[in-house]
Amino acid sequence: TLVRGRLLSFLRRPQAIDDTESYRYEEDGGLLVENGTIVAAGPYGAVRAEAAADADEIDHRPHLILPGLIDTHLHFPQMQVIGSYAANLLEWLNTYTFPEECRFVESEHAARIARHFYDEMIRHGTTTAVAYCSVHKASADAYFAEALKRGMRMVGGKVMMDRNAPQGLLDTPQMGYDETRAVIAEWHGKGRNHVAITPRFAITSTPAQMEMTAALAREFPDLHIQTHLSENHEEIRFTGELYPDAIDYTDIYAKYGLLGPKSLFGHCIHLSEREADAMSEAGAVAVHCPTSNLFLGSGLFPLKALSRREKPVRIGVATDIGGGTSYSMLKTMDEAYKIQQLLGERLNPFESFYHMTLGNAEALSLSDHIGTLEAGTDADFVVLDAAATPAMALKMEVTRSLTDELFLLQTMGDDRAVRETYVAGKAMKAVL
Ligand code: GUN
Ligand code: FE
Repeated sequence: TLVRGRLLSFLRRPQAIDDTESYRYEEDGGLLVENGTIVAAGPYGAVRAEAAADADEIDHRPHLILPGLIDTHLHFPQMQVIGSYAANLLEWLNTYTFPEECRFVESEHAARIARHFYDEMIRHGTTTAVAYCSVHKASADAYFAEALKRGMRMVGGKVMMDRNAPQGLLDTPQMGYDETRAVIAEWHGKGRNHVAITPRFAITSTPAQMEMTAALAREFPDLHIQTHLSENHEEIRFTGELYPDAIDYTDIYAKYGLLGPKSLFGHCIHLSEREADAMSEAGAVAVHCPTSNLFLGSGLFPLKALSRREKPVRIGVATDIGGGTSYSMLKTMDEAYKIQQLLGERLNPFESFYHMTLGNAEALSLSDHIGTLEAGTDADFVVLDAAATPAMALKMEVTRSLTDELFLLQTMGDDRAVRETYVAGKAMKAVL
């Protein structure tokens, strides 16, 4: 298949708003897709010449084609938690989130929510996501089975948690270990699935369980590890009480061998300089979840400050559904922009679109496969329309540059701006 449109993809992190070397833009571009892979990308004429004369052709002009959007942190069992009225993180977890996650012990419920979950991913142009399932193995089975059906590259893990939550949401150190091993054996590398080692956070794991996650991290050094870190002041204080021997919150995870280049730490809002240094030295990733941080009142993540340190911290961006309030990575970066404004920092539109695509692929160490439009990578891409609504179309009348068009997409765009979502070369949105 030959796909025609305005191609935009990144080669590296933009250093400034006029860093035109950081991206590739093709006003009349073509992508040649075979067997789920991009086999050629570039000016339409050149790519057309490489295609068979009778190749199918789809013309998406005047819309933009970007690599599929990537969401590096969200919770699959929290689709019905979104918008729950709570004062702060711990109240929100105990009052709404934990009771809701208990329902995922039922595999039929998990399978139904999984179908909705992937529908929303596709509707919002997200082609790869990194999710927490619930503590129940059935939830991970439902999550990965549905990913396999849709052919999507997804990362996820059965949550491990053995204290400070309702009985129906607890495993044990041995159970958490055994079931994680079972999920890895059944799902990792099946289709495009990646299993992540997933202790929820230090508050809900005993030291004995953390020892088991350390064992898993040693046995499976290539797997992603995901957990939460430094989100809320009360959480940080309670965590310190539970692990009195650690220097700080980050040190707990470091002590159990969880601080490494495949580690994704949700939030990281209130890190000390020492913790940021430790993250940087380990190559660990801080995952920014702006809509969640604002919704739960958790704080303002210093994205720009962390990335320009002498020891920079790697950064991912994510929705954190259901603490987050939108499935849209466009809306997510709109809120990220506003948070930087409040911190007196500028986040330019190229940086934002870098983060949603190549930046998140790099955060996952998956940029050989996703986050780009390079030949040889997965044919996961999204078609975006900056004039998708009447109000956007009106603004588009006076929008003259690519910079302004991207900023409009970010500021006013959501699922309505996603014209099509391609997964492994297949148009998925049209058939929802
Ligand atoms: N910390 C531990 N669990 C969670 C969760 O489900 N959501 C958020 N935002 N923070 C957490
Ligand atoms: Fe989270």
